[in-house]
Amino acid sequence: MTQGLFGPIETNGLALDPIGRRDHLTFRGNVAVGRHGWLRLTPSYSLALVRELLEKSGSNEFVLEPFSGTGTTPLACAAMGIRCHAVEINPFLVWLANLKLTRFDEGTGAAVQAAASRIAKDAHVPRAAAWKPDLHQIEKWWNLPTLHALATLCEGIKQLRPEPAPGVVDLLRIAFCRVMIQTANVSFGHQSMSFRKGGETAENGLVRESPAHCTGRVAKAFLAAASEVADSLLVDPPRAEAQVFYGDSRDLTAILPERGYTAAITSPPYPNRMSYIRELRPYMYWLGFLSDGRAAGELDWKTIGGTWGCATSMLGAWTPNGCGEIPFPHFNRIIHDIGKGHVLLGRYVHKYFQDIKIHLASLRTVLAPGARCHYIVGNSKFYDTLLPVEGIYAALFEDAGFMNVRVEPIRKRTSKKELYEFVVHARMRSIPTLRTNSRPAAV
Ligand SMILES: C[S@@+](CC[C@H](N)C(=O)[O-])C[C@H]1O[C@@H](n2cnc3c(N)ncnc32)[C@H](O)[C@@H]1O
Repeated sequence: MTQGLFGPIETNGLALDPIGRRDHLTFRGNVAVGRHGWLRLTPSYSLALVRELLEKSGSNEFVLEPFSGTGTTPLACAAMGIRCHAVEINPFLVWLANLKLTRFDEGTGAAVQAAASRIAKDAHVPRAAAWKPDLHQIEKWWNLPTLHALATLCEGIKQLRPEPAPGVVDLLRIAFCRVMIQTANVSFGHQSMSFRKGGETAENGLVRESPAHCTGRVAKAFLAAASEVADSLLVDPPRAEAQVFYGDSRDLTAILPERGYTAAITSPPYPNRMSYIRELRPYMYWLGFLSDGRAAGELDWKTIGGTWGCATSMLGAWTPNGCGEIPFPHFNRIIHDIGKGHVLLGRYVHKYFQDIKIHLASLRTVLAPGARCHYIVGNSKFYDTLLPVEGIYAALFEDAGFMNVRVEPIRKRTSKKELYEFVVHARMRSIPTLRTNSRPAAV
């Protein structure tokens, strides 16, 4: 048994079970922490973990988070007074994270609560049907009275007069999102969201109640959410400059305004077919970031590891783009074995690692000499084939010219025996090496 960064670990491969689930090392541990807890989204990883990784940061640390998601890394950095730039391909997540990183004026919380009170009061005024998003089978998500009440609140935020102080409308949108998901007929018992079966309650909008009663209940929940959002502004506010840039982490030079990052801390998407778009859809439709299913699939196709909607059919036409082999022993055999179960799955895994290879080539171009990298990744299993994601990452880091590459197991992911999360640590060389393949291939 040795001492890992996140507690005692077994290092001899098969004996990893003592690690256990360690749920505080997932997004569940973030829920009570100020702005981190605004929306409970599964892309996010553990704040405790990021804080540990930042503990030894000096005053010159400049962090890069290439897969920002809900902004856990930049927000942790900003609260600790560490500069951070982040990159994210989903525009809703860029908006959300940059809002979390905003340094609001002192009176903003009170202005949010005052505006929420006006909107909640107006929600009782009878009006013609307000706009609802074109979300597929929206009636599965909310019953009609709940939908009407949500649409009225949404309209109330849009129509707010007089114009509130900067940031207030965006913060009200967060309060709205909290209520919208709280009243939806979904549960978050597993890694990702699922529709609830049975169990009629007022909260999930399935119980029969009068429209007026429903409006009152939803408006009250909105007021409570606005008050929680207002309170959260006082917890660990950002102290250093941190910003999320919209773009593709396979081409970091095109997005980032600076170079010379001293650390890269992230959890990239995992090759486990989990689509972030699936869970983010209700937020993205209500807030106007998505308007139809085709756009959702197209956005997921742009992400690494996306499989939602038309992304799956696009994968059918994908072929390796010649950025070179994946330098891991038996990689082609693994792909072949996964492909025997389903040909698209083999291709999915192949494309995933090709994309990561392109990303790491791009990462080298923006890091400072000697910069440290910490990538939190999870392994996967397809049919009977275990995909050693952490080992393939380690091999890709080495191939891209990084040194001191090391894999550290941190927690068990599910009750399934073989699924774990790891940190892959690596360091940029202090003296840049001349490499012939250092140019990122075309995406
Ligand atoms: C595991 S999540 C990141 C979680 C994040 N550390 C947090 O705590 O919220 C991976 C993120 O990578 C984003 N992503 C996928 N492909 C990308 C790409 N090519 N460029 C930038 N971001 C991408 C996804 O949209 C998703 O939000």
